[in-house]
Amino acid sequence: MLSNWNQFLESLSSGKDWERFSQKISNALKSKSINYPFSVDDYYVLGRELTSKWRGDYELTHMIGKRESFREVNSEPSKIWVLKQISDKLGGGAKICDMGCGLGLVVLFCQKMGLDAIGVEWQKRLMPLHKEIGINVKYGDFFTMNLSFLKEMDIIYLYQPVKTAYDSLELLDLISANTSEKIVILYNGMWDSILKEIKNDPRFNVYYLDTNHNYSNLVLITKSI
Ligand SMILES: C[S@@+](CC[C@H](N)C(=O)[O-])C[C@H]1O[C@@H](n2cnc3c(N)ncnc32)[C@H](O)[C@@H]1O
Repeated sequence: MLSNWNQFLESLSSGKDWERFSQKISNALKSKSINYPFSVDDYYVLGRELTSKWRGDYELTHMIGKRESFREVNSEPSKIWVLKQISDKLGGGAKICDMGCGLGLVVLFCQKMGLDAIGVEWQKRLMPLHKEIGINVKYGDFFTMNLSFLKEMDIIYLYQPVKTAYDSLELLDLISANTSEKIVILYNGMWDSILKEIKNDPRFNVYYLDTNHNYSNLVLITKSI
């Protein structure tokens, strides 16, 4: 499909350690050469506004959590930068689905970067927020819903959508069964056991972006490109 795709993925993680990679990302984000229609500051400000406005509800606070939300907001510019690099490599305007999109910030910022982004989320109470920020979300449980729409996706983004390694593997199986060969999965989770299993799974190739695991696992998984 794409020539030098493997080299490209290697190059994303060529910093060899998270400090250098993260520096590379923050320089790229600050650099005028990347013409995002938003700044990193915009991202933080909007993230904090949305979080403080929507975390009043106990269940939402429990599911997303004040600290976790702030951590998410703080960490995400790096992830959306990675998503932008992949989209550019695929020719721009990649189709992406955030499985378990929560507040929807990743979907929103991908949209702002010109990606064709949607989210899946089972907390319907977030619908008014998603409408307010203008993102497209499918509501339901990704373990039971019809996932045939994933066939059209180029990238699946997973940020700790489930709490156990068992559920994560089940979700990866479902994604694999419902996607085309060229899919890229940006997986951010905390389950080393999953990565060990995937490593020996012929369906997937795994690229570590945070080789030292200092930050949290940030891993690209591709389906046999
Ligand atoms: C850690 S948050 C990630 C939010 C967002 N992807 C991000 O990166 O900021 C995980 C989200 O997955 C959602 N989720 C968990 N299990 C789900 C399921 N079975 N079906 C749909 N959404 C689910 C949760 O409600 C939560 O909003």
